Formats: sequence, C-alpha cells, structure tokens
Amino acid sequence: MTRLLEAKGVAAEIRSEVARGAAEVAAVAGRPPGLAAVLVGDDPASRVYVGSKTRACVEAGLAGLSHLLPAATTADELRALIEQLNADPKIDGILVQLPLPAHLPTRELLERMSPEKDVDGFHPVNVGRLWNDEAGFVPCTPAGIVESLRRHGISLAGMNAVVVGRSTIVGKPMAGLLLRENCTVTIAHSKTRDLAAICRQADLLIAAVGRPGMIGAEHVKEGAVVVDVGINRVENRKLAERLVGGDAKRMGAFAEKGYVLVGDVDFPAVAPKSSAITPVPGGVGPLTVAMLLANTLTSARRRFGLEPARK
Ligand code: GUN
Repeated sequence: MTRLLEAKGVAAEIRSEVARGAAEVAAVAGRPPGLAAVLVGDDPASRVYVGSKTRACVEAGLAGLSHLLPAATTADELRALIEQLNADPKIDGILVQLPLPAHLPTRELLERMSPEKDVDGFHPVNVGRLWNDEAGFVPCTPAGIVESLRRHGISLAGMNAVVVGRSTIVGKPMAGLLLRENCTVTIAHSKTRDLAAICRQADLLIAAVGRPGMIGAEHVKEGAVVVDVGINRVENRKLAERLVGGDAKRMGAFAEKGYVLVGDVDFPAVAPKSSAITPVPGGVGPLTVAMLLANTLTSARRRFGLEPARK
C-alpha cells in the first residue's frame, strides 16, 4: 500500500505549536513575534503567496506586516526599507518575496538583511551555518519537508537520498539538511548522465526541477519514498489528463481555468511503485508557510533568550 504524505495535518500541527510559542513570547516580551513581508511589483502569484503568508501569521498570533511596493521601486529605496526593518525592534523576521523585478540586484539586497532576521535562510551567513551544522535559519520548503517526513514517522538516517534539482531555494539546502539527517546524499541536475539510473538508487527521491511529470516509473525504485516539490501549470489537455490520471474533478477545474497544477513527478506512474509519496498540490506547499512561521518564532525566542539556539 502506498501512503499519501499529505501536508495539511502536519502544517496545522506546526502552526498550532507556533501559536502556543507566540503567546509565550508575547507574555515575556510584551509583543508577539513579528514578520515583515516585502513584495515589489504586482506579479499575481507572488501577491497570493505574500497574502497567504501574512494571513497565516495573524492566524497564529504573530504580527504579519506587508510592504507592497511598486514595480519601479529603486535599489536605494529597497535598501533603505531593509535597513529600517533590520533596526525595527518589533520585527523578528524579514522576507523579501522572490523573484524581484530584473532591475534590482537580488543577491546584494538579500545580503543587506540581518542574518538574525533572515527567516527565509537565503543570506550567505545562514547558508554557511547550514553546511557548518551551526544554528541559523534553513529555507522553509526543505525544512518543512524534513519536518513532515519526521512527523509521518519516516526515519531518514542511512537512507540513500537523491535530490533532483540544484536551486538555491530548494535543491542545495535540501541536500544540506538531508546530510544533517545522516542520509547519503546525491544531487542530480540537468547535466547528470543517466538520471534514471541515479534516481533508481534512491530510498528517498526529492524532485525539485520545475518540469511537469519528468520523473517517471523508470526513475523510481520499488518501495522508495518520493517527495514532489514541483508545482507546474499544464495547459495541454492530453498531458494534463495523463498527469492527473484522468481525475474527473481536476479535469473539471481544467475546463474552467484552462490549466491544472501538477508536480515534477508523473504521479499515476510513480505512486504504485512508491511506499509513500506526496501529492501535488497539498504535499509540500502548506509546509513552506508553516515553517516560515516557525522560523519567525525561533527568531523571536532567540532574541528574548527563551530557548537554547536550535539548528
Ligand atoms: N519565491 C518562491 N519561493 C520563495 C520563498 O520560499 N521565499 C521567498 N522569499 N520567495 C520565494
């Protein structure tokens, strides 16, 4: 029997733990943990993400503030806002939603953020801390995946883990975290020779490439645990139908919107071979937001000396 690793329950559990922790911070510090989310421009998907992040903050008793800036914002204006948030005693976490418009120097701006408030874990200091096994912040999606696997009772130590994709936001930090969990880790990517053979060695296969259905049955060992980080819009009806396994409800949504959202894994082909697999949507996404709240709480707790530093 294949287990479906849904994120909803785990994410709700994390959020309610954060809510308890936030109340404790508020009692000690006289204010709840605070997150400032910065969005430049009006990309509709980014707007939805930032809205759901700040809403989740408020629901968990954190202060969630959005700074919605016009697309023409200059690098100097954004630098000034980041400096202001770095200095703001009510703010524990700063999140600059990516991608930024092309005229802005993303790396330089992220590096301007205080590493102690970088709850996305994108600052080079936090990247270094992850690989040095030091306490810092780990990017929310990979951190959420490890948390979800742990809470689903999947023991990671000693597993052969293959991460497909080497992005800074998911692939690389995912590999670092799995190494910390005592997995034997391989990172595969677009230039990997015989990708299927490498993937078939995985006890734990993480797909994070952004190509709909590219991981097929030939990539998966019988009994592997499969985590699908991809979230891709498919507008081709035939491909959509195949990747949702003819699911009538999802094809109804296709008829309405003109697309379906699917992962990097060909779910109908791979699920029967896996011992456990995450669905798309609903397997990973909710964990990212939950971990953002958890990181913001951790930041506040560190600021007020409420816990020994946690990795
Ligand atoms: N854009 C896509 N994913 C993320 C994320 O996790 N954090 C930020 N800041 N931007 C993103």
